[in-house]
Amino acid sequence: MNVASKLPPIAASANRERLSTKPPFLGFGLGLRAQHYDEILNGSPPIDWFEVISENYMVPGGQPLRVLDRIRERYPVVMHGVSLSIASSAPRDFGYLRDLRDLARRVEPQWVSDHLCWTGVHGRNLHDLLPIPYTREALDHVVGRVQLVQEFLGRPIALENVSTYVQFNNSEMTEWEFLAELSRRSGCWLLFDVNNVYVSAFNHGYDAHAFLQGIPADRVVQFHVAGHSHMGTHIIDTHDHPVCDDVWDLYAAALRRFGRVSTMIERDDNIPPLDELLAEVNQAREMADAILPGMRQAR
Ligand SMILES: [Fe+2]
Repeated sequence: MNVASKLPPIAASANRERLSTKPPFLGFGLGLRAQHYDEILNGSPPIDWFEVISENYMVPGGQPLRVLDRIRERYPVVMHGVSLSIASSAPRDFGYLRDLRDLARRVEPQWVSDHLCWTGVHGRNLHDLLPIPYTREALDHVVGRVQLVQEFLGRPIALENVSTYVQFNNSEMTEWEFLAELSRRSGCWLLFDVNNVYVSAFNHGYDAHAFLQGIPADRVVQFHVAGHSHMGTHIIDTHDHPVCDDVWDLYAAALRRFGRVSTMIERDDNIPPLDELLAEVNQAREMADAILPGMRQAR
């Protein structure tokens, strides 16, 4: 495949500068969900920013895009995808990338993120965030894919650690070593999902704080904080519960380790009234204020 012919005509120096400039601290945000559209549009609730699921708006026109335009007029927005499949060995889907680029040009998000995972092969999307082996070969592969996506989009992406339920015997490094090296080599930012670290650490029996210590602080641009379902022997990353105390504790440790990082409450199922989620957003804000005095003023 002639990759160069697929790239947009962006001045190389401007692109390099855009890729290396760290996005700003946005404060404390919430995942935008359709159940809350009316309340947000009618009430302008005190939320610093919203994260939107990119694929929900990668359509030509329609009500969701019109709502997003109106919310974007009032709030900063970041785009979060679930189908980039950055680690897949399938050929790049340039139709998907074009749609993603078009949406980013419309929304002008502070950043675009997705997950370190694969979601399918042979044109089939399994709609799940599947784990990869942490090998040097996989690292080379993903670095190249990230660089291509960033060049195509003309902006850096952030990649999120996923919750996992299996590990590969042939992994040659830890997940955090892989993420750190991926970020260093490709220039991508990191979205540190506090709950996913908690879930994976429990499921695989490693120390969540080792993960935290292994991630370079200057590469993290966003936190996800979410709830899960504890099954006793394992945890499933369901995003259908309030954030539990253990995850709040890990969030506190993440604040001490990474400092000022834009934080977002992520709820995808069993979605409560907006006020309940606002209370969790405020809990994150108050914890950050207590741990990092001056954090709010420094925006
Ligand atoms: Fe997440």
